[in-house]
Amino acid sequence: MNYRLERFCEDVTQVLRSKGAAGLGDIAARLSLLLRDSAFVADTFHEAMPAGKRVLFHDPVTGVYVQAHVQAADKRGTPHSHGASWAVYGNARGYTKMTEWRRTNPTTEEHMVLAAGERYTIGPGDARPYPPGMIHSTEHPEKAWVIRITGTDLDRIPRYRFDPAKDRIVEPAAE
Ligand SMILES: [Fe+2]
Repeated sequence: MNYRLERFCEDVTQVLRSKGAAGLGDIAARLSLLLRDSAFVADTFHEAMPAGKRVLFHDPVTGVYVQAHVQAADKRGTPHSHGASWAVYGNARGYTKMTEWRRTNPTTEEHMVLAAGERYTIGPGDARPYPPGMIHSTEHPEKAWVIRITGTDLDRIPRYRFDPAKDRIVEPAAE
């Protein structure tokens, strides 16, 4: 494992053990520094890497996963949340267009009505925290190298995904 990555993962588990999800801002700040380290980027990604993800680190005590994602160009995701888990997203190369969404109908209704909220770009060296339940969507007009840190294995927990059959967007994100 790359030395900087190893130090970063030690710091992340330390922050989580002492502060829990209240330390997400600290983790995003540290991830930003890691993403600006050219040796880390060169050790973690290379040009010929196909689109996909791989686990760089997992700590069974805190449950945290650090994953490297190669995002293919021209990919637009639908609104989703990470359920009870949090996430921190950061880019090593390329950019992510991020939209945060807010629910405008009562939580007692089964379907979701969403309105676009904040919209911004995560560029190389940028990282942002996403607390549990926050609905967001990502767009990658160009190929991008992304690091995603999550509080648990997202494939194993219930999470929200936009369902075009019943959910509705009332205020789309501005282009
Ligand atoms: Fe996400």
